[in-house]
Amino acid sequence: MALLTKAPRGTQDVLPGDSSKWQYVESTLLETAKLFGFQEIRIPTFEHTELFNRSVGDTTDVVQKEMYTFEDKGHRSITLRPEGTAGVVRSVLEHGLLNEALPVKACYVLSCFRYEKPQAGRLREFHQFGAEVFGPADATADAQLITMVHEILETLGVWDISLEINSIGCPKCRGAYNQLLKEYFHAHYDELCPTCQERLEKNPMRILDCKNPACAEVAKGAPKILDHICPECAEHFQKLQEYLTLAGIEFTVNPWIVRGLDYYTRTVFEFVSNNIGAQGTVCGGGRYDGLVKELGGPETPALGFAMGLERLLLVMEQCGSEFPPKSTCDLYIASRGGEAAKLAFQLTSRLVKEGYVAECDLMNRSLKAQMKYADKIGAKFSMVLGEDEIASGTAKLKNMHTGETFDLLLGDSFVEDFYSRILETVYEDLEDASNHLKP
Ligand code: HAM
Repeated sequence: MALLTKAPRGTQDVLPGDSSKWQYVESTLLETAKLFGFQEIRIPTFEHTELFNRSVGDTTDVVQKEMYTFEDKGHRSITLRPEGTAGVVRSVLEHGLLNEALPVKACYVLSCFRYEKPQAGRLREFHQFGAEVFGPADATADAQLITMVHEILETLGVWDISLEINSIGCPKCRGAYNQLLKEYFHAHYDELCPTCQERLEKNPMRILDCKNPACAEVAKGAPKILDHICPECAEHFQKLQEYLTLAGIEFTVNPWIVRGLDYYTRTVFEFVSNNIGAQGTVCGGGRYDGLVKELGGPETPALGFAMGLERLLLVMEQCGSEFPPKSTCDLYIASRGGEAAKLAFQLTSRLVKEGYVAECDLMNRSLKAQMKYADKIGAKFSMVLGEDEIASGTAKLKNMHTGETFDLLLGDSFVEDFYSRILETVYEDLEDASNHLKP
């Protein structure tokens, strides 16, 4: 029975009391991205497994250990997306978006699935906000993308976070570097985990990103890619730093950032917080100049990032970020008796039509219990309807905060009258209440 009332390990519900925070964060993210010229893209939750093998890379932890892969009833190998970039590239190619004006800029909010060991800030189903840019090769684009993340974090009140950048070069500089890495790791072969022993020949850079503590220890002494990038990559990285400085964005160069996915070239970056536990990377991204071609498209430089929304919310709480107040009931209409219940039902509909949050009794409760409920849901105003009110065509509107009461007409001018009454009364949340109002 426990299986019926317990969500699978590593998943999380967002309950009605918390969802307004998510809505606020998601709309802020999308709105800010819009200011930078991005439009939202929506892609499927699952793709052909091959897409992730080819893009994320078949020697990465994500592909080797973490994907939710299954055969569907048509005997196709299907994978729940572990990230958004691969699907976005697939979609951009499928729909020929690269034939239109470049750069193409797409952003998204989506769920991702990775079979990882759950802990604070690490889930098996988590959510990302991400943005991808197709077309620009110049470092100005890298700087602008990072500026956008910076702007987003500032808007959301996140101050306790640092930006780390690195360049991991291009295929040209990587050949010689991979050779150096192989030599280094060969000398430490016995200390590596079996997966890394296997990766050594095919993709030695992946060992730098292994979560196994023994591998991480060996990796500390490995040659750094930044010391071995070609002059063009070095120039690109230099320009990025100049532009970040120009934008007044602080950063540190961390030569150990290699990222956990294979498609990256040149710029990689992470925004890291030290105050949300071991999983402090809130946002990660970089360039992937070879991926579009790898997936069958034209040679097209590209770049992007994604931030984990669960981690973003954790860091916002840590920073004491402000969230907008939850929307609460503007008017609760209590009633006694069948006729009054009908009127309550009608008046509620009229208020809702005009954009107010209004509720009436749906539980056939006593008047006392109805008022208790109104109190519990934090209704700003309440009103009781009974035979007397129906007969006189007026009711007492009560400010639940101050206890003040007002006469309110129940006829045609009910909604307008309600509006003028609430303007007459002092209410700490008045602004929020009157936000809905159409005078
Ligand atoms: P990623 O570093 O694998 O990059 O993930 C981006 C962010 O997703 C992380 O920084 C973290 O905040 C969040 N995240 C990752 N795994 C988990 C997890 N198990 N639980 C909770 N949050 C998690 C990518 O996914 C790339 N697609 C980013 C990108 C876009 N690069 C270029 N374009």
